[in-house]
Amino acid sequence: VTLERVLVVDPIDGEYVADLEVDPPYVVGIKKRGISNFLAIAMPGFVDPHVHGCFGLSVMDGEFSRIEERLYSCGVTGFLATTISSPMDELVGLLEKVKGYRGLSFLGIHLEGPYISKERAGAHPREFVRKPSEEEIEILKKYPEIKLVTFAPEQEGSHLLFDLRGVTLSAGHSNATFSDFLHSGLKRITHFPNALRPLHHREVGAVGAGLLLEDVDLELICDGVHVCGEMVKLIYKMKGAHRIVLVTDAIPTTGLKDGRYSFAGVTVLVEEGISRTPEGNLAGGACLFPEVLKKFEKFTGATLRELAAASSYNACRELGLKDMGRIKEGTPADVVILDEDLNVKMTLKNGLIMYKKL
Ligand SMILES: [Fe+2]
Repeated sequence: VTLERVLVVDPIDGEYVADLEVDPPYVVGIKKRGISNFLAIAMPGFVDPHVHGCFGLSVMDGEFSRIEERLYSCGVTGFLATTISSPMDELVGLLEKVKGYRGLSFLGIHLEGPYISKERAGAHPREFVRKPSEEEIEILKKYPEIKLVTFAPEQEGSHLLFDLRGVTLSAGHSNATFSDFLHSGLKRITHFPNALRPLHHREVGAVGAGLLLEDVDLELICDGVHVCGEMVKLIYKMKGAHRIVLVTDAIPTTGLKDGRYSFAGVTVLVEEGISRTPEGNLAGGACLFPEVLKKFEKFTGATLRELAAASSYNACRELGLKDMGRIKEGTPADVVILDEDLNVKMTLKNGLIMYKKL
C-alpha cells in the first residue's frame, strides 16, 4: 500500500508531506514531497492505556476481540484492557482468559484497583477496594499480561506492588499528600486530577505533585466532563504535551445512547452521553478517542506533533514499547489517517487496513 501525499506527523521528526509506503507489518519507505498541500493527515495510531469497554462491550466479560474491532473505527491501534476493583477470583478468571488471547491492538491489562483508597474510590465498588496483601501480589506475579497498575501509594502494604516485574506503576484513586507521592517514587498518575485529594494551598497533594514534578506523566480524560477546559490548559501549560497521556477511560456505556445500564454489578445512568452512578459519581469517559483528541486540540491549541505525542508516543514510551508511536521507516505501520478536522478516515494496524470510513 502507498498512502500518497499525506501529512506525516511524527512526534520526533515533526510534520512533512510525503508518500508513505507500507509493506505489512512495516513502514518501508517515506518519500518526502517537498510541498505543503496534502490529501490527509497520517498520525501514529492512537494508544489508549485506559479502556474498560465501549459500545456495550466490557473488558470484565473478556470481550477483547470485539473491543479491538470497535476501537479500530476510533483510530486506536493499541490499548490496555482496564479492570475495576473486583474480588480476587474474578480478576484471576479474567487474567486466565487473557492468557489464551492473542490480539493485535490488545497490549495487556491495566489493573485499576483494587488497591486504591476507599475515600477516593469514585465509581469503584467500595466493598472490593482493599489493601494489597503478599498473598494476592504473589498471584498477580504469575501474569506478565499485567502491564500497568493503578493504586494508592499512601496505603499500607503498597510497597508490595513494586515487586511486580515489567509493570508500569501509577498513582490513582489516591488520597496521597505531596510527601506520600514524592516518597513513593512514582512517575505516573492515572486520570489526573480526578479521584485525587484536591489541591489545597497548604497541602498540594498528588495534584500539586503532578503539576510540579517535571518527570511525572499524567493521564488525562479529555472529554470536557472529567476535566474542564481551563484545567486542561493549565496542565498543558505546566507540563507540556510530552508528559500528557490522553485516555478515554471508556466504559461499556461509552458510545451508547442515553439510558440505564448495568455492567460488572454497577448501575450506570447515561444522560447526554455522560455516564454516572446512581449516586451521581462520574462512572467513566464520555467520549471515544477522536473526540478526546479534538477537545484537547481545542482547549490547548497543541500542534499536530504534540497531539501525536499525547495520543500515542507518550503511552508507548512509558510502557516500554519501543518503535511504537512513531511514523518512521522500519517501524510497525500503526497509522491513523485523519481529515483536517481530525475525523478518522482509515486505520492501519501492522500495515493492514482494519478500518476504512465509507
Ligand atoms: Fe478510575
